[in-house]
Amino acid sequence: MKVSIIGQGYVGLTISAFAGASHHVTGFDKNQVVVDQLNMGISHIEGVESTLIAGLISLGKYKATTLGSDIKGSDIVVIAVPTPLDAQRQPDLSYIDAACKVIGENLDSPALIINESTSYPGTIRNYIKPSIEKYSKRAIKHEYAISPERVDPGRSDYNQKNTARLYAGLTPEATKRTREFYSTFCDNLIEVSSPEVAEAAKLFENSFRQVNIALVNELAQISHALGIDVRETLDAAGTKPYGFMKFTPSAGVGGHCIPVDPSYLSYVAEQAGVSATFIQRANEVNLEMPKYIATRVAKDNGGSLKGKKVLVVGVAYKPNVADTRETPSELLIESLEQLGAEVTWNDPVVKSWRGKDSAALDGVDITVVATKHDVVSADEILKSAPYVFDTTGKVLGAVQL
Ligand SMILES: NC(=O)c1ccc[n+]([C@@H]2O[C@H](COP(=O)([O-])OP(=O)(O)OC[C@H]3O[C@@H](n4cnc5c(N)ncnc54)[C@H](O)[C@@H]3O)[C@@H](O)[C@H]2O)c1
Repeated sequence: MKVSIIGQGYVGLTISAFAGASHHVTGFDKNQVVVDQLNMGISHIEGVESTLIAGLISLGKYKATTLGSDIKGSDIVVIAVPTPLDAQRQPDLSYIDAACKVIGENLDSPALIINESTSYPGTIRNYIKPSIEKYSKRAIKHEYAISPERVDPGRSDYNQKNTARLYAGLTPEATKRTREFYSTFCDNLIEVSSPEVAEAAKLFENSFRQVNIALVNELAQISHALGIDVRETLDAAGTKPYGFMKFTPSAGVGGHCIPVDPSYLSYVAEQAGVSATFIQRANEVNLEMPKYIATRVAKDNGGSLKGKKVLVVGVAYKPNVADTRETPSELLIESLEQLGAEVTWNDPVVKSWRGKDSAALDGVDITVVATKHDVVSADEILKSAPYVFDTTGKVLGAVQL
């Protein structure tokens, strides 16, 4: 089949690589630099090997493009574009709209259109379908389905093949064809009764994480005030064989999913007249963590960070990836600066961020560990400053969150 994938980022390129084994894939992206690199067989996404892309290109199974007309004649089109929040922290569907425009203006025959971008229940039925119909020059009867993406960048034990995938179409025909497509590279397909259930399940998965991370971050603050070790408390609670799932404290949540998706759920809840207070409060607790950490670091250092050289270790939002989207390190740096610190950062995986390069891991008054990559040695971190504060629980001997 000819499969076109709109968006060649973390999700889109990963799907392209798996689908390329059985189909002819056209990877459409609006970023010319990314497209040129991909066509040279260079992957920009962790977990998608350049050799794999180069191999598919040489077999004629993959090409990247910025030309909308290249998606003509597709049997299947997968949407994998960003779904961020706008300045008011409301869902921003402008990328989805742009994807619908490319699809509507260029598809000249009936296709199955699957959305993998994360959005609120009703997006495929009430937003994507009407939008594509609006942009189409003539009436074409496409099929529509949803299969929310669950990829976890940097993870090797779970991938597209062995991660259970939810799916549902707007019609039985769409559901059937969606199953046929994903069964070419995924072993575990779970049909649900409507696209809205699949859309809601995806949002709830990440809301569950957001809320539990906030809960454990609150426990870290309570434990510190009571003089109790939070990690020992969590290990102790984790000995219960049922009814408990362990989350660990941190500088907050980052990435394109956990800080964003719950706001899609609270938005749609509000539209339905229900107030999502839990989700909103969890968001606030996690966003306040950097300020809490900066305040504790200041207290431990004579009450002020004025003129102190502070190094933040790790600006990626999680270990062993170079992804800095929504990273809590950004708010942490801001909070430390507000307290008068001169802040630099070290991250050998990210290397360059916000126009600056990773600083040396030494010669500072204070080090705060926000994310610890495997390649960064705990011993080196401990030697970098006379005072080291660790939010990760991985630098033993440092002051712990
Ligand atoms: N990254 C993850 O771990 C993850 C996991 C599950 C779900 N998701 C969801 O998948 C969707 C995509 O996320 P991502 O992480 O792949 O984003 P990304 O930023 O890595 O990639 C998106 C790509 O889409 C391209 N793009 C933007 N607008 C476009 C347009 N109009 N036409 C063509 N290309 C366009 C961008 O240039 C970029 O290359 C989001 O809805 C996200 O919430 C992401």
